[in-house]
Amino acid sequence: MRKKLVAGNWKMNGSLKENEALLKTLVQRQLQFNQLQTAVIPPFPYLSQTQQQLHTSTILWGAQDVSVESKAGAFTGEVSASMLLDFGCHFVIVGHSERRQRHQETDQVVALKAKVCIENGLRPIVCIGESLGEREKGETLSVLYRQIDAVLNALDVDHIQRLVLAYEPIWAIGTGKSATIEQVQEVHQALRQRVAAVDWVAASALNILYGGSVKPANALELMSLPDVDGALVGGASLVAEDFMAIIQAAAVSAAG
Ligand code: PGA
Repeated sequence: MRKKLVAGNWKMNGSLKENEALLKTLVQRQLQFNQLQTAVIPPFPYLSQTQQQLHTSTILWGAQDVSVESKAGAFTGEVSASMLLDFGCHFVIVGHSERRQRHQETDQVVALKAKVCIENGLRPIVCIGESLGEREKGETLSVLYRQIDAVLNALDVDHIQRLVLAYEPIWAIGTGKSATIEQVQEVHQALRQRVAAVDWVAASALNILYGGSVKPANALELMSLPDVDGALVGGASLVAEDFMAIIQAAAVSAAG
């Protein structure tokens, strides 16, 4: 049985003051449920604050990016996997579409980052997703297969089980327009089959999250789908009540 994971991607939001209040509420109301993992993913400067506020809780945390370089050195502006481990990170978001589009991250760079994470004991949450144009041209699965294959090819087979995948259709991110449950299940099932062709055992244990306008109103329906193992939540993770409601929905779907 796969555990559900609900991770809040704060993107470039927050301040010491706002984070303190948000994290405090999450800790006070955390769910103790062993079929569910929860995590927050703040910007780098707030990892220390997050660690201090969450280290005695069941809520995990992670970072939004990592360097492909794992050894310390002259890489201005980069943050290594071992630095993230110093701050207790568990997860790293890799290949978010905002980084693929705005920072020209290629499939190969994303794959290298995923590899660096796993080799250093972190779990990469690898984001993949198609644009609206690609979906309309019927290219959804071929785009997703290209993105996922790059990662699968870069990893040792016995590392695939450390991977978390997040299907995030680009047209659903921050738009309020989530994919339909049929679209989501179809893609998640296809992705699991793609991984199964390489490693059947890892595929059945693989966490495949959905992301893109997840909110309290659609969380239960999305997370009850057979191949959806949780959510990567952007905007709604900044509002304690909304994030809690999504976590609650994940718990209900995991229990059911
Ligand atoms: P959203 O973002 O929930 O605000 O659509 C999701 C994401 O980009 O991870």
